[in-house]
Amino acid sequence: MNIILLGPPGAGKGTQAQRLVAERGMVQLSTGDMLRAAVAAGSPVGLRAKAIMDAGQLVPDDVVIGIISDRLDQPDVAKGAIFDGFPRTTAQADALDSLLADKGLRLGAVIALTVDEDALVDRITGRYACATCGEGYHDRYKQPKQDGVCDICGGTTFKRRPDDNADTVRARLAEYHAKTAPIADHYGQRGLVRNVDGMAEIDAVYSQIVMILDERVTSS
Ligand code: AP5
Repeated sequence: MNIILLGPPGAGKGTQAQRLVAERGMVQLSTGDMLRAAVAAGSPVGLRAKAIMDAGQLVPDDVVIGIISDRLDQPDVAKGAIFDGFPRTTAQADALDSLLADKGLRLGAVIALTVDEDALVDRITGRYACATCGEGYHDRYKQPKQDGVCDICGGTTFKRRPDDNADTVRARLAEYHAKTAPIADHYGQRGLVRNVDGMAEIDAVYSQIVMILDERVTSS
């Protein structure tokens, strides 16, 4: 099944996507991760995107639609794609509809993580990740079992994102409200949106998501 995880910055999209990859063998398609890889590689896309991302604004639609289109051509998406951070505008949602139809793929659900925005700055400024495997952690809410050692790969080096500061988070939230939140209607009209309480503990959020996926599999 292919799903979209929808929610503002810090809602927990990446955290839940990583778990679905680990436990259900799905494939995470994070446009944020893809753009950060392009920035790190110094590619033309990365050079175009870097300043926009650092300012907390959205990268132009043609850039991200191109990235997702190329990614959907890879065979592993047959295992079930998790769209994490895409689509983010109505133009991107329209493009995704066309891409999925062209490739004979179907969208099973749009899982909207609902959160208290006062918590988001705290969540994002406390976030870090393993520099080796990318596993996500938080200073308070999700620490490695052994201090300074990644639970997944044993790596001992961690990194923080340059856009994870309070000012940029506020800019990202403004972009979310202006351009991304309206796409819930795009999918709501088709009965695809399911709200999940993103303020629950990480395990409880995951349980809610899995329940929705299992219901959708049974009913399809
Ligand atoms: P992107 O990388 O997509 O960032 P984002 O949407 O701002 O989302 P985040 O990654 O910040 O949050 P998340 O929801 O994944 O939260 P997480 O699980 O990490 O985009 C970055 C930039 O790239 C954009 O600003 C834009 O410039 C560009 N971009 C990307 N896609 C684009 C597109 N389609 N179009 C145009 N531009 C695009 O959780 C956050 C923290 O909270 C973690 O530390 C986690 O451990 C903790 N946490 C998670 N869940 C819980 C919980 N239930 N309780 C307590 N703590 C929790």
